[in-house]
Amino acid sequence: MLGKALSRWTLAWFASGLAFLLAALAMAAFGLAGPGRWSEGWALAAVHLFALGWLCQMMLGSLIQFVPVLTARPLVLPRLALPALVLCGAGTLSLAGGFLALEGWPTGALLAMGPVLLGLAFGLAMLMLGGTLIAARAWRTGDGSTVLLALLALPLLWATGAGMGWAFGGIAWGAALLPDGLSLHVLLGAGLWLTLAGMGVSYRLFPMFLIAPDRSGPLRRAALIAAVLALVLLLGALGVLLAGGDPLPLTAGCGLACTLATGLYLAEIRRIWQSRRAPVPETNMQWSRAALGFLAMAALLTAPGLILGGPWAEAAIFVALAGWLSTLTLAQMVKITSFLTWIQVFAPLIGRAKVPMVHDLTDARAAGRSLALWVAGVLAGTLALALQVPALFDMAALALLLAALLHGRELIAIRRLRHLSETARPAGLPPMILPPTDRRSHHDIPRPASA
Ligand code: HEM
Repeated sequence: MLGKALSRWTLAWFASGLAFLLAALAMAAFGLAGPGRWSEGWALAAVHLFALGWLCQMMLGSLIQFVPVLTARPLVLPRLALPALVLCGAGTLSLAGGFLALEGWPTGALLAMGPVLLGLAFGLAMLMLGGTLIAARAWRTGDGSTVLLALLALPLLWATGAGMGWAFGGIAWGAALLPDGLSLHVLLGAGLWLTLAGMGVSYRLFPMFLIAPDRSGPLRRAALIAAVLALVLLLGALGVLLAGGDPLPLTAGCGLACTLATGLYLAEIRRIWQSRRAPVPETNMQWSRAALGFLAMAALLTAPGLILGGPWAEAAIFVALAGWLSTLTLAQMVKITSFLTWIQVFAPLIGRAKVPMVHDLTDARAAGRSLALWVAGVLAGTLALALQVPALFDMAALALLLAALLHGRELIAIRRLRHLSETARPAGLPPMILPPTDRRSHHDIPRPASA
């Protein structure tokens, strides 16, 4: 079902992502980031621990697992997964440390090095993911073409970020990106890279989880065309900016195209939802609805955020990163971790012993509680940014930190099979994060579809 082959490093990408999430939230809860302070060094560090360490690592780790599912063929160059993970983690830390130079720390060299490491990480990831998608001619399918388009945005995101980072070292074209290029940078990161990749993966996963017919249709094609238009307008805005002109009309057009693509995507997900045969959606899908609600909210806030800036922009970015992308990731992590654990532990026992169902590995109520707290934290954080109330934002960050800790505890319980009875638990468990040392186990090798 979820995968014919398990990537050896998926859980390591997830663990690293979670560690970065906790670090970013701890910084926010300690008051190092908040309304009106996003261009300060500490806040920029926290934003990038969150955006790159948490969201990008989770997305890359998930794509390394799911692109073989989307394309029905093994990943190209799977051995690059570990170096890509190490470089991505090191690059994120280096960039975050480099931002502290804005607070007077002697870390300017890290700001120059971070983009280099991140560029290498993204390059390796693109070789694996792009290589697999191109070999499978994935542009012919709705989900494959959406993920391919998202991958096209990744080098552009990198270039805008690297340019702004190197501007501190005197690179002229990078300096031209500041300050007007910031909105293009954020549209690329939160919108065209992360959101499009999330859409592409959900086209395949949502019908699977909801037991709904999986077929590409006019809504997916229209959403893709709107996303291509957004990317073209963004490239135009970037060109105008580098040539010294005013990019706002094209940037606003790009924002509107993003909003249109989002509307069409939401209509497609509604169609899938209505055609489901699963009588009661599981926790991951129930809470994905909250994520989709945040996506609609972020789409509505995009135009005012781009045109009016200030609290509107802060709220829009927060709803997109913490509301839409993070709620979706946290909700689906429960299912994916249960499934990967089930494949590792129980798939080899099929036909030889009684095996539990995938959902038996999860405590749905515990997962639901941490997700509810997360959603409440996002709502409070959005209100704090919209009204510019720092104390409320600190409290929201504390709630998000607590929710992430509780969620992490549930994920550990799933990996340790704590929700199964003693008798249902096998004697030996696989390593918590690292792949088993036996390379013949169910990693990076084709398996028949099951469960
Ligand atoms: C999904 C990925 C990313 C997201 C969502 C993101 C988000 C942001 C946000 C929200 C800001 C602006 C904060 C403000 O001043 O209002 C920002 C600034 C910045 N970002 Fe990123 N970013 C991402 C990736 C990157 C990457 C890959 C790099 C470097 C290669 C980078 C480098 C920078 C730099 C240097 C600035 C500071 C500009 C300045 O104010 O001087 N970012 N980013």
